[in-house]
Amino acid sequence: MTAHVVPNALDAYWMPFTPNRRFKAHPRFVERAEGMYYFTPDDRRILDATAGLWCVNAGHGHPRIVQAIQAQAAELGYATNFNLGHPKAFEFAGRLAALLPGDLDHVFFTNSGSESVDTALKIALAYQRARGQGTRTRFIGRERGYHGVGFGGISVGGIARNRMSFGSLLPGVDHLPHTHDLARNAFSRGLPEHGAELADALEGLVALHDASNIAAVIVEPVAGSTGVLLPPQGYLQRLRAICDRHDVLLIFDEVITGFGRLGAPFAAELFGVQPDIMTLAKGLTNAAVPMGAVAVRGPIYQTMLDHADAPIELFHGYTYSGHPLACAAGLATLDVYRDEALFARAAAMAGPFEAALHGLGDARHVIDIRNLGLVGAVELAARPDAPGERGQEVFRTAFDRGLLVRVTGDIVALSPALIVESGQIDEAVGLLREVLASVP
Ligand SMILES: Cc1ncc(COP(=O)(O)O)c(C=O)c1O
Repeated sequence: MTAHVVPNALDAYWMPFTPNRRFKAHPRFVERAEGMYYFTPDDRRILDATAGLWCVNAGHGHPRIVQAIQAQAAELGYATNFNLGHPKAFEFAGRLAALLPGDLDHVFFTNSGSESVDTALKIALAYQRARGQGTRTRFIGRERGYHGVGFGGISVGGIARNRMSFGSLLPGVDHLPHTHDLARNAFSRGLPEHGAELADALEGLVALHDASNIAAVIVEPVAGSTGVLLPPQGYLQRLRAICDRHDVLLIFDEVITGFGRLGAPFAAELFGVQPDIMTLAKGLTNAAVPMGAVAVRGPIYQTMLDHADAPIELFHGYTYSGHPLACAAGLATLDVYRDEALFARAAAMAGPFEAALHGLGDARHVIDIRNLGLVGAVELAARPDAPGERGQEVFRTAFDRGLLVRVTGDIVALSPALIVESGQIDEAVGLLREVLASVP
């Protein structure tokens, strides 16, 4: 019999984005995972309806990815990418460039989504300067946006709690209005009908600051961490047109939407909108090894090379940029996505997912349901005196009943791995219905 060890001293670990006191009073653990399931130390099976944290797109512990990491660890565990190459970093960048839409054909490696965002913002500034537009230093993000936790990311991000304790942040940042409109769009299936005109706020910011001062606009094509806020029909196309009109870069943060989540390889393709820069992480390596990436269009890279005033064109990089284990995991992940046709599978499962999720329309506390591809959200009425508490209780109760969901405030998000079966969708939604009935 295997001895299962549960830590009995929890104090030293300061857990991220977690109510530490509450967790340590009532801890919950997982010990191993396979496919769609986690297993607790006492071998209870937990259906993972969130793909880890929107990241394990090919399911947990995929044998091909495991094998690739093991082999790479034995062959070359680490090499710096400063002035030194190893083949898999170049191979992985090339494979990504071939997969990414349009001419997003140059890739800078980071270790997380947060680093990807800060890298993308730095590239935008450096590019504007390199092309002789050094006054373009302002960024425009969006209310309720989540772009990780670096200073750049929280500056362009729009979640008050993530910003309020951390000083003055980056200067020169404005925010577009968010696109969540329950009055007009509640219970939309797919893209909401109303709100494309919210993109026009960008024209207002250009009028205020003048385009000559604006470097880039950054948005998540679908805002994930803030509770799955979908872009209204035509909204992203309108943002792109305004950016084009004023020669402003458009950055898509596809950390969640990349690698099949929406039923297309990338949101840019689903929406037919080409960003100038794209940030990636999560599904990039199936989350088996931490990694992020920033992809840029050919002319951005070329401008940086042509106008460099020093041999190094971009003074930026990480000890672990292009880490061999991450590259090996990423290459194997791309093989799995291709060989198992997982992006097409996500598209095929989007219909059953939508139908099952909207079946919760009459469940207790539910005030909205929204979905696109294999991402969806069930928004609950907040307790008047304690916003977020109902959501937390739903999360805990669901886990106790064998279901892992992601909760933001009182919004329950579901984003199963792309391997999900329709029976598992039904199981997740059925469990969630029971949980909602039992939580006051
Ligand atoms: C859109 C987006 N950008 C950036 C990040 C940050 O990624 P990480 O947690 O890997 O730093 C996230 C994480 O959820 C994200 O959803």
